[in-house]
Amino acid sequence: MYLTYEATLRAGGASLTRLALDADAGFRIDGDTLAATIGPTTRAVVLNTPNNPTGAVASRAELEAVADLARANDLWVIADEVYSELVFEGEHLSIAGLDGMADRTVTVSSLSKSHAMTGWRMGWAIGPAELTGHFHNLGMALAYGLPGFIQAAAVEALATQDAAVAEMRAIYRRRRELVGAELAGIDGVTVLNPQAGMYVMVDVRSLPASADGFAWDLYRNTRVAVVDAGGFGVASAGWLRIAFTESDEELAEGCRRLRSFIAGLR
Ligand SMILES: Cc1ncc(COP(=O)(O)O)c(C=O)c1O
Repeated sequence: MYLTYEATLRAGGASLTRLALDADAGFRIDGDTLAATIGPTTRAVVLNTPNNPTGAVASRAELEAVADLARANDLWVIADEVYSELVFEGEHLSIAGLDGMADRTVTVSSLSKSHAMTGWRMGWAIGPAELTGHFHNLGMALAYGLPGFIQAAAVEALATQDAAVAEMRAIYRRRRELVGAELAGIDGVTVLNPQAGMYVMVDVRSLPASADGFAWDLYRNTRVAVVDAGGFGVASAGWLRIAFTESDEELAEGCRRLRSFIAGLR
């Protein structure tokens, strides 16, 4: 899961129970596992689709499983859909759109990914009015307000959304293909083709190094920075996460260095 959830939830007094995912099954949501994770004190499910770090887009069946459990156990769903505009394969569906779910779902998103406006801190939460009234108060207490020029930029970004987002999607799709091609065929290393987002997961469990050691040695030796995906949860231990937020040239060069670094390990 995206790393800041834990601190955010704890700051609100909640504790966190992680849903176990199966790396070898593509990190999909399993309804039975989720059902077993829900206990008497569970209040909400945090759902992130498209997912960081896995790049998985939840299918209708996966969302139905979450929705069924939310309805049966009277849970809120906090749906983080920040990568929803960057889908390459499959279709992003909002769980809030499923039967009866709008009343128990808070959908959060921002301009950080779709418009690369990360530093501008412009985002939103959509939910039932009864709840969003509290958000207004919380926002007043935390930030008071967002600078006017950022609000103006956000209005412009959303008004011209279709063209801007199509361009972003095309760029990330091209980089996804580039990374996939550059890293194809490395013995014992599997690249999980992301359905969405700006990251690719690489399975290095068969290499003679831990993912953490690998990431640091790679950086020290080649100046290529990747992330040990084990930091996102036990399910992704032994995987690396590569962000394709650099230019095509730099990405290609990074991949070449990665490939020759792995050859050197052997
Ligand atoms: C799943 C997920 N949610 C939220 C965020 C943060 O978005 P924002 O910049 O809008 O706070 C990120 C950023 O990496 C993310 O990956």
